Amino acid sequence: MAKRDFLSLADLSSDELTALLDAADNMKAKPTAGAKKLAGRSVVLIFEKPSTRTRVSFEVAVTSMGGHPVVLRGDELQLGRGETIADTGRVLSLYADVIAVRTFGQDRLDELAGSSSVPVVNLLSDFSHPCQGLADLQTIRAAVGSLEGVALCYLGDGNNVAHSLMFGGAKTGMDVRIATPRGYEPSPDVVARSQQMAAETGGKLSVTNVVAEAASGADVLYTDVWASMGKESEAEERLAVFEHYRLNDDALALANDDAIVMHCLPAHRGEEITAGVIDGDRSVVWDQAANRLHTQKALLAWLVD
Ligand code: CP
Repeated sequence: MAKRDFLSLADLSSDELTALLDAADNMKAKPTAGAKKLAGRSVVLIFEKPSTRTRVSFEVAVTSMGGHPVVLRGDELQLGRGETIADTGRVLSLYADVIAVRTFGQDRLDELAGSSSVPVVNLLSDFSHPCQGLADLQTIRAAVGSLEGVALCYLGDGNNVAHSLMFGGAKTGMDVRIATPRGYEPSPDVVARSQQMAAETGGKLSVTNVVAEAASGADVLYTDVWASMGKESEAEERLAVFEHYRLNDDALALANDDAIVMHCLPAHRGEEITAGVIDGDRSVVWDQAANRLHTQKALLAWLVD
């Protein structure tokens, strides 16, 4: 059978996505599930950008499934001294059963996947963050009870996390509404593809510059940092541009009474979200972080099957 990679939620069918979420729920309910699934197998985890949740949850996931995680920073590899991505993928495939990478351009992941004979996992690129998207969907399904028809309002930067929410929401029939400042909208290609997917599942996908349009009647309010990794030099400018897109009590008041609050973390209290909201009783951010472990265990089990 051809190997599967996990580079974007757009690559999964709706049924595959639902099956992964079901498997993640099983991993959560029964932590020993999959305990021997990676026995005798190694997973290489490469980080070209910093990470707390992704790095630790993957390392713990691999270990708890009986596997051996090999964690490397990008600058520890010969990649930094001119070895090509293609050669790197070909060589790592000789030793490891899965290669997982946090990097910059999605093209680097595509090239790695093309040259590797084992599954390649996207641990975050500038384009998408599908592992985060999986945990987000598991969290919403558990908190709200379903995904179909659930209204999710994402406030802030139309970034990689927004892209994965758009693909994941569209695949599962959600009503995803993205509100960004002008000039910070998600990729038009992701919008078009998500709208096409949503048309097939009965979902909806809209993009606006008006917070109230996205937040009114929402079941889920979601935000992320205003300056993603690699955009730090724009942080000061973005503070002013994003000022009216903060997830605060005003946004919460527009949403449904029982709306949940999500953030992929790390959070900057007082910037994209207020302390009162992220630490308030509507927040599910710690469940969301915990679900990274369960969804990634389900993902690894699926990829090596
Ligand atoms: N949400 C997330 O990916 O966290 P890290 O950057 O800490 O891995």
